[in-house]
Amino acid sequence: MQKENMFLFVFFRTFASQKQLKSMSKIEKYKLLTEQIRALIEGETDSVAVMANVCAAIHETMGFWWTGFYRVKDGQMVLGPFQGPVACMHIGYGKGVCGTAWKEQRTIVVPDVELFPGHIACSSLSRSEIVVPIFSKSGQVAAVLDIDSKELSNFDDTDQQCLEEICKMLSL
Ligand code: SME
Repeated sequence: MQKENMFLFVFFRTFASQKQLKSMSKIEKYKLLTEQIRALIEGETDSVAVMANVCAAIHETMGFWWTGFYRVKDGQMVLGPFQGPVACMHIGYGKGVCGTAWKEQRTIVVPDVELFPGHIACSSLSRSEIVVPIFSKSGQVAAVLDIDSKELSNFDDTDQQCLEEICKMLSL
């Protein structure tokens, strides 16, 4: 099968309609999403193409408010592919939730963004947030996956575990 046809085959095999998604639990959606992302990125070496499709797949399946990547570049974080409203383009080391996840090299879950000192508000509608670091082969933070929700306390251990599993599949 040609690569393009294989992509369509895999995409439709793992595609769920919005109606189907509504009846699925969070863990069921993440299982589907993880399978879809594994298939989507297999053999793809272009990091922009990978980030673009990964954030679209997460955003569509989980129904978040903002889903995107910030990449480490020249000592700061720069906005990468995303889904949702426009966002700030540069974030410093240790600044905001993203810069803190970069500095501390760990996932940060923020149940209420107003209570996180130094939170950078790209959208006034964002209420809770999760930021997951993505590591290069040499163990440095290469990028972060940043997800915002319009609901307070939207992210729990299931989100953290599943999103960390997805981020481990990415080599940027
Ligand atoms: N809230 C983030 C900034 C990025 S936007 O949420 C898209 C932060 O505090 O780092």
